[in-house]
Amino acid sequence: MRFQGKRVLVTGAASGIGKATAALFAAEGAEVVAFDIAQAPGVQPLDVTDSEAARAAVLAAGPLDVVANVAGVCRLDHLADVTLEEWNRQIAVNLTATFVICQAAMPGLVERKGNIVNVASVAGMRGQAYSAAYCASKAGVVMLTKSLALEFARRGVRVNCVSPGQVDTPLVTGVAHAFPENVNSRLIDRNLNILPPGQSSPEDIADAITYLASDAAKTITGVALTIDGGMIS
Ligand code: NAI
Repeated sequence: MRFQGKRVLVTGAASGIGKATAALFAAEGAEVVAFDIAQAPGVQPLDVTDSEAARAAVLAAGPLDVVANVAGVCRLDHLADVTLEEWNRQIAVNLTATFVICQAAMPGLVERKGNIVNVASVAGMRGQAYSAAYCASKAGVVMLTKSLALEFARRGVRVNCVSPGQVDTPLVTGVAHAFPENVNSRLIDRNLNILPPGQSSPEDIADAITYLASDAAKTITGVALTIDGGMIS
């Protein structure tokens, strides 16, 4: 019961990693305030790209001890096929919304000595072909995390992120369904976890997120914890 008496905000909580993360925080005693654009039991509706609504949701969530920014989108495309609309969508959901929620939550987190765990990706740690917008957005999440970690360390707020490799969620299924044609398979093979069983489970990533949010990680800030079955080792 590492989070007894703690209040935790989780975005992207209707599916995949966010759902597993909200469930694990709750199982360990947290009062979880869950948001997603999609409907799910116990999850409040929020489009994180609606900045005003996102700020209001953070304030309405009450005094927070932990913020987990998990909501995200991904689509692979050849550079020539990346529309400006698609570029803006991935940057808005993955990066700008994470910034907006971190900014809105920070004064409360300073008061309560809380912490933030963002979800980046291995695509934010090294290049991934056909993923210009996704890579740029997730590298942004890594550096946003590190910047805030430094700025707020002396005020007692830790800011970390996790960088998953391939995780068995609807996001990966969606990417597979809309896969671009004529790709270089050698470049695609770089995106596979090596360690058996291949893909991580959403629960594997939730374990890492809750670890970083817990007191056991009290001297850890500014890290991007890679959970990729050895992919980028
Ligand atoms: P998922 O598709 O199962 O879950 C993502 C959730 O974000 C969905 O419930 C979706 O409705 C929500 N979401 C999307 N746009 C939103 C918006 N505008 N406002 C509010 N909620 C929104 O995918 P998964 O895999 O659980 O993704 C979670 C995070 O993990 C994402 O940030 C993703 O980029 C990241 N990630 C996933 C990897 C994977 O292999 N599945 C690998 C590395 C990172």
